[in-house]
Amino acid sequence: MSISLKTPDEIAAMRVAGQLTAEVLDYITPYVQAGITTDEIDRLCHDYMVNVQQSIPAPLNYAPPGYQPYPKSICSSINHQVCHGVPGERQLRNGDIVNLDVTVIKNGYHGDSSRMYHVGETSLQAKRLCEVTFECLWLGITRVRAGAHLGDVGHAIQRHAEQSGYSVVREFCGHGIGAKFHEEPQVLHYGRPHTGIRLEAGMVFTIEPMINAGKAAIKTMADGWTIVTKDHSLSAQWEHTILVTETGYEVLTTSAGSRQKPDWIGAT
Ligand code: MF3
Ligand code: CO
Ligand code: CO
Repeated sequence: MSISLKTPDEIAAMRVAGQLTAEVLDYITPYVQAGITTDEIDRLCHDYMVNVQQSIPAPLNYAPPGYQPYPKSICSSINHQVCHGVPGERQLRNGDIVNLDVTVIKNGYHGDSSRMYHVGETSLQAKRLCEVTFECLWLGITRVRAGAHLGDVGHAIQRHAEQSGYSVVREFCGHGIGAKFHEEPQVLHYGRPHTGIRLEAGMVFTIEPMINAGKAAIKTMADGWTIVTKDHSLSAQWEHTILVTETGYEVLTTSAGSRQKPDWIGAT
């Protein structure tokens, strides 16, 4: 097995899929309010993908080895839920933080992105965790260029998370993406500079750090999907799909509503 380099036609298709992914996250933003259930959010996103975009929600019935088919069209992970939260009857409440993770397939290619949303007024700790995690994502993205090593990306993320007093989840990582949802390479959110594979122009992968306010340990809930922090501390995640270029990176999951790189983080 090896890491595919995308052709110009594939890259064009992934720009389209990436933009559609980001546009689902834009679309749902005004609905993320106290009182809505995560099932209602899932249904709104599903209908937008299928009826408006004519895209396919990749999570629905997704069944990697050892997993039951995923039953919903997006993932919604609230507070101490780390990732892969399954939408249900839980209503959002004032003070919740929630990650919405969307993956669309368009013309056979995937885009994968997630953002954090604040419900009403959230705590200072919740705000700081979400901001630091967003910075971790961008510190990782800006290490990406042909010739850099994947360990450079992981290291930049880990250093900022740990210097901020937080911990990096180890069991889940970013991933290559293209005609398949999850391909090689694995993109660890921790590591040492100058280790791991060397990046080449044309590689496409996600960076999606999961950062816990407490300890790094996680556990899986009885539904077989929802991951939570073992110590019930808050957890945050942001995700983009990234193309490696000769001189740097291109973020494929951008849209009118996506947040820009923090100014204090250098371009590359
Ligand atoms: N979107 C997740 C990721 O970033 C994967 C979700 S798998 C699902 O890789 F089946 F839960 F949707
Ligand atoms: Co992903
Ligand atoms: Co995702």
